[in-house]
Amino acid sequence: MVEIETPRLRLRGWIEADFEPLAAMCADPRVMEFFPSTFSREETEALWKRIHAHFARYGFGPWAMEVEGEFAGSLGLNWVPFETHFTPCVEIGYRLRSEFWGRGLATEGGRTALRYGFEHLQLPEIVAFTVTANKRSRRVMEKIGLAFSEEFDHPLMPKGHPFERHVLYRISRSGWDDLPLDTRLHGVTS
Ligand SMILES: CC(C)(COP(=O)(O)OP(=O)(O)OC[C@H]1O[C@@H](n2cnc3c(N)ncnc32)[C@H](O)[C@@H]1OP(=O)(O)O)[C@@H](O)C(=O)NCCC(=O)NCCS
Repeated sequence: MVEIETPRLRLRGWIEADFEPLAAMCADPRVMEFFPSTFSREETEALWKRIHAHFARYGFGPWAMEVEGEFAGSLGLNWVPFETHFTPCVEIGYRLRSEFWGRGLATEGGRTALRYGFEHLQLPEIVAFTVTANKRSRRVMEKIGLAFSEEFDHPLMPKGHPFERHVLYRISRSGWDDLPLDTRLHGVTS
């Protein structure tokens, strides 16, 4: 598995010691504000299995993010797990422990994950989506170079749920090639 280091963080494979801080992060109401609920332990176990299965099947997935030797969250790429008009495609996703917010870490990791997706995986396009009201996440999408495309109803969300409405952001390989160098070249692949 490819691991990536940037000036402030490391995107690496998962180790057993990540499970407890992952479970604590997914049980934090602040982190899960835009999800229908916080995760129970069983839901985090299911997430853990999905992440490992994705890496085993495709060779990439959401990495564990490490900052100053500590587990800071998860960030990476995965195939969108539902069918709709913009799939099949790969999405970029990020979830950080709230102690690590506001330092530009999602932006730093996100830029390097996009570079990995385009240069290493040779993907034609990468998307991101979130609940319309999740301004923090939308801001990260914009800062790493994705452009707003449209609103859509998330097919896995219950009909009428306040979080059903999502925003879709996208970036194509050629769009990424056209980004300024300092946006594209963040991070060192090892
Ligand atoms: C979204 C998340 C990953 C951002 O991580 P982060 O490391 O704090 O992000 P960054 O510091 O790189 O950038 C955050 C940007 O959002 C801005 N921001 C923060 N709160 C905001 C708000 N309420 N409204 C608008 N912008 C906001 C910040 O000012 C910053 O932009 P700036 O650099 O232009 O000032 C983190 O908040 C998180 O894990 N949230 C919970 C999980 C989640 O929602 N994931 C996305 C689901 S798709």
